[in-house]
Amino acid sequence: MVKILPSLLASDFTKLGEDIGKMEEAGADIFHLDIMDGQFVPNISYGLPVVEAISRVASIPLDVHLMTKDPEQFIDEFSRMNISMISFHIEATNHPHRLMQRIQESGMKAGIVLNPHTPVSSLQHLLPEIDFILIMTVNPGFGGQKFIGSGVGKIRTLDAMRQENNYDYEIEVDGGINDETAGICIEAGADLLVSGSHLFKSEDWKAAVGRMKE
Ligand code: DX5
Ligand code: ZN
Repeated sequence: MVKILPSLLASDFTKLGEDIGKMEEAGADIFHLDIMDGQFVPNISYGLPVVEAISRVASIPLDVHLMTKDPEQFIDEFSRMNISMISFHIEATNHPHRLMQRIQESGMKAGIVLNPHTPVSSLQHLLPEIDFILIMTVNPGFGGQKFIGSGVGKIRTLDAMRQENNYDYEIEVDGGINDETAGICIEAGADLLVSGSHLFKSEDWKAAVGRMKE
């Protein structure tokens, strides 16, 4: 069964605690936290103190998506905040394998993110050990953008590769996910769907989460 990960970037930051409780009641599985540094992507979102506050009130697991230069920098801090999953962009580090191991040794699941232009082949020697792969279906940096279809072929390829080789990574998709694009991604083999603006703008969050799971 596919899991739904609301992206808190689309929540109302003046009522963050309330939105977290409401999304949990609506059936959200995991919260997706977008960390942007104004360097790796042209936007700044929120940082460690806000993540720490979220970790105190959330009762479902947390997934940190690092859109930062030097993703090595804050792994220890995140590991102390009860984060379950953390992913970084392959372009952001010279040592993706080392960083993957370090995240795993800190007790978190490690994920690698592919931008719309980044090929699946860049992951070749990481696939046997990686916990999850995050396929970007928008260019990272902003919520509310239009779905870029090139990610769908990558989901299919990764799904076929794990079946052929008995790999056990999960496939996560992020960007422009609504009812229609969710269906396309699930059909291609995605396990985890991130959705920001579509979910938070829906009138009935429970119905919106339910529709996506179908
Ligand atoms: C984009 C972020 C996404 C974003 C998704 O850089 O990584 O997680 O919040 O938002 P929507 O669902 O609105 O595209
Ligand atoms: Zn994200």
